[in-house]
Amino acid sequence: MDKKMKQEVYDQAKTWILEAGERIREKIDAPRSIETKSNPNDLVTEMDQETEEFFADRIKETYPKHFLLGEEGFGDEIEEMKGTVWIVDPIDGTMNFVHQKRNFAISIGIYHEGIGEIGFIYNVMEDVLYSAQKGQGAFKNDQQLPTLNQSRPLEQSILALNTTWMLPENPHVDHTGMERLVKKLRSTRSYGSAALEFAFVAEGILDGYLTMTLMPWDYAAGAILVQEVGGTVTRADKQELDLLNQTTVLASRVNIHDEIIDGYVDLKK
Ligand code: IPD
Ligand code: CA
Ligand code: CA
Ligand code: CA
Repeated sequence: MDKKMKQEVYDQAKTWILEAGERIREKIDAPRSIETKSNPNDLVTEMDQETEEFFADRIKETYPKHFLLGEEGFGDEIEEMKGTVWIVDPIDGTMNFVHQKRNFAISIGIYHEGIGEIGFIYNVMEDVLYSAQKGQGAFKNDQQLPTLNQSRPLEQSILALNTTWMLPENPHVDHTGMERLVKKLRSTRSYGSAALEFAFVAEGILDGYLTMTLMPWDYAAGAILVQEVGGTVTRADKQELDLLNQTTVLASRVNIHDEIIDGYVDLKK
């Protein structure tokens, strides 16, 4: 993607994400139909669907050659990261949206030939927009975020982590390693929106985010943001992220990244 095109797509995506957020805010107190997907706690509302359709319609009309990978099924069947792909989570943190009417985000990552070029995470109810373009740093609204060049020992670090990984029956990771990690850390947080957890790592108010099951739309934008401030983002086995499948993720300050994986993450096969 050349520079001019990239700037145009960035400006367009920014306009759309702000508009989509405004629509959600306008209807935040409207009665809502809530359905479940893979299990009784996997929620989806008409607002998730309407918002993804909003992006699908606009992307198709304005950039007919671009592809859309979205959570709610309005996008394309994507088997490889060829061309320009918009990876969209219309509402990340649907459970928060339903139960709390806050603490959710719209996430858009735009990839060209598999490379993350543009990332947006919009904290809708707070009206805070995180954004990044590859090689140009990351921003919170109009303020550039400082790089994460400061090391912080694990004992003083706050890690976003879901309590699920502490359960012995969780199928993904050895829970005793997670217990040792929780004891070592200063503390943990669970915000219920992967996108916001990435944004908070990029902002430096969390030192890392570790999770065992994310889909591409949960982290497509977040990975770009964290990398733009000099953080490290890989799978929880240090491999590169797989943009087409479910994956584990550790996004963190550089100095604690390998220490967490080597010392505490024992993935179940
Ligand atoms: C979920 C949230 C949640 C994470 C889940 C995601 P959704 O996304 O990001 O924090 O733990 O793995 O599926 O379904 O609210 O878009
Ligand atoms: Ca969902
Ligand atoms: Ca999500
Ligand atoms: Ca979602």
